[in-house]
Amino acid sequence: MIRPLVGEDLERHALIMANPEVVRYLYEDPLSAAEAEVHLIRRLEVGPAEPGQWRNFAVDFNDQLIGEVGFVLNSTLHREAEVGYFFDPAFRGNGLASSAVAVMVDWCFTELKAHRVVGRLDARNERSSALLARLGFTLEGRFRENEFVKGEWTDELVYAVLEHEWEVVRPSLANLPSTVFHVKHPEEPLR
Ligand SMILES: CC(C)(COP(=O)(O)OP(=O)(O)OC[C@H]1O[C@@H](n2cnc3c(N)ncnc32)[C@H](O)[C@@H]1OP(=O)(O)O)[C@@H](O)C(=O)NCCC(=O)NCCS
Repeated sequence: MIRPLVGEDLERHALIMANPEVVRYLYEDPLSAAEAEVHLIRRLEVGPAEPGQWRNFAVDFNDQLIGEVGFVLNSTLHREAEVGYFFDPAFRGNGLASSAVAVMVDWCFTELKAHRVVGRLDARNERSSALLARLGFTLEGRFRENEFVKGEWTDELVYAVLEHEWEVVRPSLANLPSTVFHVKHPEEPLR
């Protein structure tokens, strides 16, 4: 289930974001408890999809926060959105992250009316690459050493899926675990 983040998510949020494996290819270092609280508070913000403002959501499995997904509207004019995500490695390998990201991407196309949804990632992030490829995203480019993250120059990959491509991919997603396809409150915080 995808739902709004709430203050009560702090314990699980902090646990996940303290894990060096989770933040390895994110901009953050492992978060302390205090940092995790600030991080979560920033992510509690809801409201209409304003360009440049990330909106993040909790992903629950068996009533437990297992990860988070979010989107940002990059351009209203060009109708481009971007998705982001991180998950607890304890729940790895079941397709749960893929399912949750698929829901977010689907929402970007159906509700936000995006024409194009992109994913940007550290080129070494193989699991993230695999996830986007699994959802029908195309690798469009590699930007060499275009970011300086945690003391080193990093290559960035850009993946994208277009509206008409998603219509083709979408029916095959019925094979993904069905439980997380229930999106609670899709409109409320996003419109
Ligand atoms: C990126 C990330 C979310 C990917 O997680 P993941 O566990 O690989 O993704 P999923 O939950 O979709 O699981 C995919 C695995 O489940 C398997 N799987 C099983 N059933 C599946 C199903 N029905 N559908 C899809 N995959 C399924 C896949 O084959 C794949 O197996 P593998 O681990 O042997 O490759 C995770 O590595 C992560 O949170 N990383 C840290 C944060 C991060 O880097 N975020 C991205 C920043 S760009």
